[in-house]
Amino acid sequence: MDPIVDLDFIDSRTPEQAAACDTKVTVTTNTGKTRRLYIESYGCQMNFSDSEIVSSIMFEQGFDTTSNIEDADLVFLNTCSIREKAEQTVRNRLGQINYYKKKKPDMMVGVLGCMAERLKKSLLEEEKIVDLVVGPDAYRDLPNLINEVDGGQKAVNVLLSREETYADINPIRLNSNGVSAFISIMRGCDNMCSFCVVPFTRGRERSRDSYSIVREAQQLIDNGYKEVTLLGQNVDSYKWTSEDGAETVNFAQLLEKVAQLSPELRVRFSTSHPKDITDEVLYTMKKYDNICKYIHLPAQSGNSRVLELMNRTYDREWYLNRVDAIRAILGEECGISSDMIAGFCTETEEEHQDTLSLMDYVQYDYSYMFFYSERPGTLAARKLEDDIPLEVKKRRLAEIIEKQRETSLNRNKRDIGRVHRVLVENFSKKSDQQLSGRNDQNKVVIFDKKHYKKGDYVNVFVHDCSVGTLFGEAVD
Ligand code: SAH
Ligand code: SF4
Ligand code: F3S
Repeated sequence: MDPIVDLDFIDSRTPEQAAACDTKVTVTTNTGKTRRLYIESYGCQMNFSDSEIVSSIMFEQGFDTTSNIEDADLVFLNTCSIREKAEQTVRNRLGQINYYKKKKPDMMVGVLGCMAERLKKSLLEEEKIVDLVVGPDAYRDLPNLINEVDGGQKAVNVLLSREETYADINPIRLNSNGVSAFISIMRGCDNMCSFCVVPFTRGRERSRDSYSIVREAQQLIDNGYKEVTLLGQNVDSYKWTSEDGAETVNFAQLLEKVAQLSPELRVRFSTSHPKDITDEVLYTMKKYDNICKYIHLPAQSGNSRVLELMNRTYDREWYLNRVDAIRAILGEECGISSDMIAGFCTETEEEHQDTLSLMDYVQYDYSYMFFYSERPGTLAARKLEDDIPLEVKKRRLAEIIEKQRETSLNRNKRDIGRVHRVLVENFSKKSDQQLSGRNDQNKVVIFDKKHYKKGDYVNVFVHDCSVGTLFGEAVD
């Protein structure tokens, strides 16, 4: 079988990067609570971050977390709807969980997140094993919903909110390596890209109180963390106004406030929308050494007509202008990555070539690459025909992946022969004699352990690379 055929979600992350986004809870709290929660997360970093909020709410409600599903009284799947395959994965997993539930009939099963929001109470009918369905803005209601299920009912809350940011909730860090953590700075999305289900599953965009964000970052520093990633679907449109209207903070200002907390704290952010990323943000990045020189700037397509159909609200020229601004202000070394969709409705062969030529121009360090998957209810599903045959979508995707492999390798080769400052995150997957960390540009670097350990900043001379990883030697 053509290996491409199976691939819906393809990225160029190394195993180390992928492991950082493991789906299962890996940190167990064992404080003698009477019941145990097992939680698995799917989809984007926002969902992983939400699972930490959920765990905190459940902890207050008398649940420890466990990394062993067989020990759990309550199993949560925090789900993603972004592509059809993402939902299928969750449905398959529910089938497997049925096996545990048969052995332990009291086990409660909840579906949280975007699939819960999209399918609402119909999920209860479609998947008999599910006891509760909770949308992303309803997690504060979990204690009541659990009580309902304890009382023998099924429970659903999928109300979306215009205000909820969970600002006051102190997340329990679940997949933590104790070095890097995510901080949600906003929720929802107002952009209505025509292919995308997120505005429907996550509701309206809202920005979290900047003081609570800075407080959370400070707490992480106090607990020994060395890196934070500020999260939102479109961080560049972050805008918080105090209740009395006297103070407004935009994204560049927020970035600066977090960066000023400590020069030893690395600050990252994701995702930047090409229409909103400002020169002010780029100059703020330049001003602070501890703001990492790496930008995830999803293009989706390199062709202006397709971008218009996608309702991305920028065209190829605008996108390239933003890339030129990044290179001019932050230099050639600044890492840039992208998301690409192959075979969007009506995309011609020439338009697909425009995506490849855009990739040639930008020289992305890496990309997350997908073929188009129609999502019910989106603008594209209602107005456009999903008319590109699956084999064509997959072939175009394969070409995009091949192009990315080339550019990743080109970009990585440029890093050979230089010293990189690496923040150590873990042992390398392959050997406990080697450490794995990331450089400023978010690239994974592997090197011999010597006397270094997790959380150290290490200067590493890079002497080799693969498509996804740099290899080097620590220099004292
Ligand atoms: N807020 C981010 C994207 C979040 S979704 C942004 O605007 O860039 C992550 C990625 O999934 C998107 O960038 C897009 O490339 C991909 N994606 C979203 N909907 C999709 C669909 N219907 N089919 C295929 N890929 C999709
Ligand atoms: Fe989806 Fe577009 Fe919003 Fe990103 S910006 S979450 S792609 S609607
Ligand atoms: Fe998926 Fe929802 Fe994130 S649809 S990509 S989990 S916002």
